[in-house]
Amino acid sequence: MAREPMDVWLYGTHIATVTEASRQRVSLRWTEQALERWGHGANVLSAKLDIGTTPPDVTVRAYIDGLLPEGSARVNQAMSVGVAPDDTYALIGALGRDTPGAAIFVRAGAGDPTRAGHYEPLTDDEVGERLRRADEYAPAQPGVVHESSTLPGMVPKITLHRERGSWQACKDGAPSTWILKRGGQLTEIGGDIIDTEVACLALARAVELTTVDAEVVTYGEVRGIAVSRYDRNGQLGREHQEDLAQAIGLNTSDPNRKFQWGSAMPSLRDAANVLRDGGANQDPLLRLVTFSLLIGNTDLHAKNISYLRHADGSVELSPAYDVAMHLHHRPDDRRNALDINGKFLIDALTIDDVVAEGMSWGLPAVRARRVVADTVEAVRAALAGIDRSTHPNVSAEAWAVVDRRVQEATDRLPVSTAATKNRAHPRERLAGGRRGPKRPKST
Ligand SMILES: Nc1ncnc2c1ncn2[C@@H]1O[C@H](COP(=O)(O)OP(=O)(O)OP(=O)(O)O)[C@@H](O)[C@H]1O
Ligand SMILES: [Mg+2]
Repeated sequence: MAREPMDVWLYGTHIATVTEASRQRVSLRWTEQALERWGHGANVLSAKLDIGTTPPDVTVRAYIDGLLPEGSARVNQAMSVGVAPDDTYALIGALGRDTPGAAIFVRAGAGDPTRAGHYEPLTDDEVGERLRRADEYAPAQPGVVHESSTLPGMVPKITLHRERGSWQACKDGAPSTWILKRGGQLTEIGGDIIDTEVACLALARAVELTTVDAEVVTYGEVRGIAVSRYDRNGQLGREHQEDLAQAIGLNTSDPNRKFQWGSAMPSLRDAANVLRDGGANQDPLLRLVTFSLLIGNTDLHAKNISYLRHADGSVELSPAYDVAMHLHHRPDDRRNALDINGKFLIDALTIDDVVAEGMSWGLPAVRARRVVADTVEAVRAALAGIDRSTHPNVSAEAWAVVDRRVQEATDRLPVSTAATKNRAHPRERLAGGRRGPKRPKST
């Protein structure tokens, strides 16, 4: 028996209705309001979902699967809400009130959910307990979901709101404004990943590649990283985003598909084309690739690159997120998630490959070189300026790897006259695009 249709709301408009044609097939129909507000062919929801056309069911499913957790995180979430893990339709029905970006899924006819929901204070013990149990499933009470929220990714995580420094639970569709990911113990290999992520986000902020605030949180023996959401703002508001996998219609219910490793897709060229097709500047993507290679973040895969899709139809690369230092503890896996200039073995990649990659997107050589050189210089300055004592669990070895990589890049790519002449305004240079990334107003 077909299940109830669902309405999708975006920026205060009922943009589409999704229905289940049969099990595993999800169809999407645009509303008149969507056509009136954004017009035929607009891509405000997704690059792959043109308003006014009938998208193939597999494309709709790939988009929705892309909002849901991956791997065992998906299985656990599914069990907690009492549905089968492969039941995309039921999962988004249960979890889709708070999604990555601004799309809200509600029962058809339920009305505008944009301002719905409320927040309830949590004690530190309660937050610690939620984080500790983030990869467990709770016994389901079928049909009862008070906290409906979904994010992709493999790492156990919870979503919360923060007000004046206190954590709050997001009830009945209130948007979360922070993400807490559970970290490992420092004695484990890779247990410092949350610590290096906080440091890398601080560097990314210094070079204006992100607006995300991040800190390590500790509740008893549980450690985690808290990051502010760049797709939220203080007045229950949401900015829409989609990731590269969604933007190219790649279904990542097999999480390995986020990586390229020599195959045709996903690729950085695809990522650059999404910006070009949206009329946006590609420079910020080249800066992100440069930054990622310098810090030794090998995990820049198709779900770690995202785009903001604003209500006015404009597109830009999102602020950087999920960036960390990997090379000091991964002697066994030296693969970069996406190929750069046709290479993915990290030890074969140099900064010249990043310039060549940018040129392959159609950027003129001088510009590609200038963007990369400016970013290397900005990262070098940020590294010199960062107070390393505020990141006590980032080892000297981890910093040394980054220092060495930045030095090698600087030596290979001396800041040329071309790089210092005719520079754009610093904000445009580093944040890029028609507008800079927005800073969330939540506290
Ligand atoms: N600061 C942020 N603001 C808004 N959305 C974010 C932010 N950080 C992450 N996201 C969204 O949440 C998703 C999961 O976050 P993240 O990538 O940090 O998790 P992860 O589990 O570490 O991922 P991975 O599977 O790559 O290890 C991202 O793909 C992105 O869509
Ligand atoms: Mg990620």
